[in-house]
Amino acid sequence: ANGATVPVLVIGTGYGGSVAALRLAQAGINVEMVEMGLDWSTLPPMTGVGEGNVFCRSSQPGARAYWLRTKSKAPVSNFFSFPIDSEISKFTGILDAEEFAGITVYQGRGVGGGSLVNGGMAVTPKRERFASILPSVNADEMYNTYYPRANANLGVGNIRQAWFDTAECYQYSRVGRKHAQRSGFNWTFVPDVYDWNYMEAEQAGTVKRSALDTQVLYGNDAGKKSLPKTYIAQALATGKVNISTLHRVTNITTATGGYRVTIEEINTSGDVVATKNVTAGKVFCAAGSVGTSKLLVKMKATGQLPNLNGEVGKGWGDNGNVMVARANHLWDPTGKLQSTIPCSGIDNWEAGGAFAEVTPLPVGIETYASMYLAVTNTQYRAQFTWNASTGKVDLSWQTAWKQDSINKAKTIFDKINQKEGTIYRTDLFGGSKQWQDGLTYHPLGGVVIDKATDNYGRVAGYTGLYAIDASLLPNGISCNPFVTITALAERNIEKIIATDL
Ligand code: FDA
Repeated sequence: ANGATVPVLVIGTGYGGSVAALRLAQAGINVEMVEMGLDWSTLPPMTGVGEGNVFCRSSQPGARAYWLRTKSKAPVSNFFSFPIDSEISKFTGILDAEEFAGITVYQGRGVGGGSLVNGGMAVTPKRERFASILPSVNADEMYNTYYPRANANLGVGNIRQAWFDTAECYQYSRVGRKHAQRSGFNWTFVPDVYDWNYMEAEQAGTVKRSALDTQVLYGNDAGKKSLPKTYIAQALATGKVNISTLHRVTNITTATGGYRVTIEEINTSGDVVATKNVTAGKVFCAAGSVGTSKLLVKMKATGQLPNLNGEVGKGWGDNGNVMVARANHLWDPTGKLQSTIPCSGIDNWEAGGAFAEVTPLPVGIETYASMYLAVTNTQYRAQFTWNASTGKVDLSWQTAWKQDSINKAKTIFDKINQKEGTIYRTDLFGGSKQWQDGLTYHPLGGVVIDKATDNYGRVAGYTGLYAIDASLLPNGISCNPFVTITALAERNIEKIIATDL
């Protein structure tokens, strides 16, 4: 409520925020969480398109699919060159396609953050790569304690390999495996937080289908262990955590007793319906790489937190994301039933700087397409800056930088195409583009550990102000990021509880 005083305020309910809330509550502290999106567990099933589901299918985005847009903006924008985006009504939907000058950054909105919309791929980076991912963090502690803790609490599991070899819905992955291995690449299974027993039941037809009913990007009605089923459920069960939804933090400044935080309450059309001020003893920024960076850059530039250092807003990267599809021969169908949850990848990191997930194109018909999302080892980093004339935060990303990621991904796919006698698809991303190089799913950095903060996320210049999300990560992860975000948050919050509270 307006004027309230709270011991701890956590901004955002994604991975970093959920870990912070659970551990603080277990330490006996009352935690107030602020989330700009909806609590999706309170929404009734839809009527009409998507009847009976809470969430939209990826093939049928409606109002609930997008954060305050009037037209969908799907990562695969065309099919057989035909544009597939459609008009939708403006609503505080689940997927934000946030547009900066050089790049669209996709993010989840609502209680659970990115866990609501992501593929659930839960990858722990190879240990020998860790020193280049988080150079200032002790690897022994991470691999002995915090990665195992994160994996256990997130509910990470593996596909049953004997089932994988015959399941109709993973034919596309088996084709991906065959092509990768014939070209001499290292193909690996990828763990996921989807309930694999439920997945098998979906294929058998004994339960309601979700992953097998094209759900993922706009939410998932069953099967996926997103944060509201794991960390957030545990946090709420302590009785010490309260979440205010449709509340968006706009300002943080110092005040007697800690920080004065300004929060706008919005309605589901995005209009501001109330503005509130809260005093918090400690503030944890967990609004995601973009959200936390935007907030702190604005606070520094507008003089509300003038002691933030010059590293705030710097070191932002896209984890080298590019998407591509190959056109297979007619004797290599990928299957008309495809699970939205990827379970495998091609690892060419050491030799070529690319790790590519074998991803589905779940459109309900045979496409003969093999799709991939590549994470690449790009060194390009952009900076967030305050634009006083627009009152917004800009990002200095350059579209040309993606060529480096494309080149790295081509170390895999040019070779496979040559071996298989196949070509890239040009009908999926608009124009005749072979590569989807205009987006990222993996925003990282902006409030980098040991630069804008100390080695545990304590923001430099201010006591009791923390960053505890993807904004801390200095470098590409070499794989999908949320396990590392979660493990780092576990490490940092343990230290903070022991020494600061
Ligand atoms: P996260 O973004 O999860 O949460 C931040 C929260 O803060 C959001 O709920 C947001 O609404 C809220 N917020 C922001 N600003 C606010 C403000 N001012 N006031 C109040 N609330 C605010 N990763 C992976 O490891 N495996 C995968 O398979 C995938 N797949 C994938 C697919 C898609 C489509 C996307 C978009 C992303 C992925 N990811 C992924 C990435 C992964 O989801 C992402 O890295 C994490 O969610 C980031 O976690 P954070 O805790 O940093 O923030």
